[in-house]
Amino acid sequence: MKIGFIGTGKVGFTIADSLQKQGHTIILGFRDKDSASLKEAVEKNPLFASAPMREMVGMADLIVLATPFQANQGILQGLAFGGKTLVDCTNPVGPGITHGLKSERSGAEAVQEWAPDARVVKAFNIYGFENLGGGEFPGYTIKPLMLIAGDDPEAKEQVAVLLGEMGFFAKDTGGLNQALHLEHMTLLWVRMVRANGHHPNFVWAYLER
Ligand SMILES: NC(=O)c1ccc[n+]([C@@H]2O[C@H](COP(=O)([O-])OP(=O)(O)OC[C@H]3O[C@@H](n4cnc5c(N)ncnc54)[C@H](OP(=O)(O)O)[C@@H]3O)[C@@H](O)[C@H]2O)c1
Repeated sequence: MKIGFIGTGKVGFTIADSLQKQGHTIILGFRDKDSASLKEAVEKNPLFASAPMREMVGMADLIVLATPFQANQGILQGLAFGGKTLVDCTNPVGPGITHGLKSERSGAEAVQEWAPDARVVKAFNIYGFENLGGGEFPGYTIKPLMLIAGDDPEAKEQVAVLLGEMGFFAKDTGGLNQALHLEHMTLLWVRMVRANGHHPNFVWAYLER
């Protein structure tokens, strides 16, 4: 699959690198070809292709959004997605590690409003970037959990397949309005790790009986 990236920093690079190693073609979208994060990403993985943002969106089968939340509206309003899946990894974070939209609605629903012709799926947002490449957790027989949310079942299935390839157990939590609660899970993880000093290489698990 051709997977495009908007944002190639810590989150974008980690996901792109993992998906490239699964055999996918990665196209990093740029607004400025001299961007430090773009150069660093291509240096670390020379198999990445890159293209101006609009061209990348036209070429990719699925697009991953990994930019600061406050930049999203400006970025998305200039792009035409034509019904493609847009994976929202972004988190609106407010002062004191609170929800940046005052918990009134999710950032993902705002993303859907700013990109009405995309099929938005929330994913890759409930942990720090350290855990977003998937992989194995030695000593455990269960897989790291990735919770997803979205209104389009086909788009969620596309994302679940990619997550499975990366080594995650993908769990569909429901419609895009569930993303608010996934964004709250982020705040819990971030407070534990970035504020309280918990080790960053831990993830949630799903056990059912
Ligand atoms: N860091 C984490 O552990 C983590 C985990 C889960 C989710 N998230 C969320 O994921 C998102 C990205 O976080 P990050 O840590 O990867 O950030 P980051 O390392 O600072 O990278 C941000 C990326 O967005 C690009 N960007 C910024 N403003 C832009 C604009 N106006 N137009 C186009 N590109 C723009 C930057 O490009 P330039 O280099 O050109 O500025 C860079 O490639 C955030 O919403 C964050 O809340 C973060």
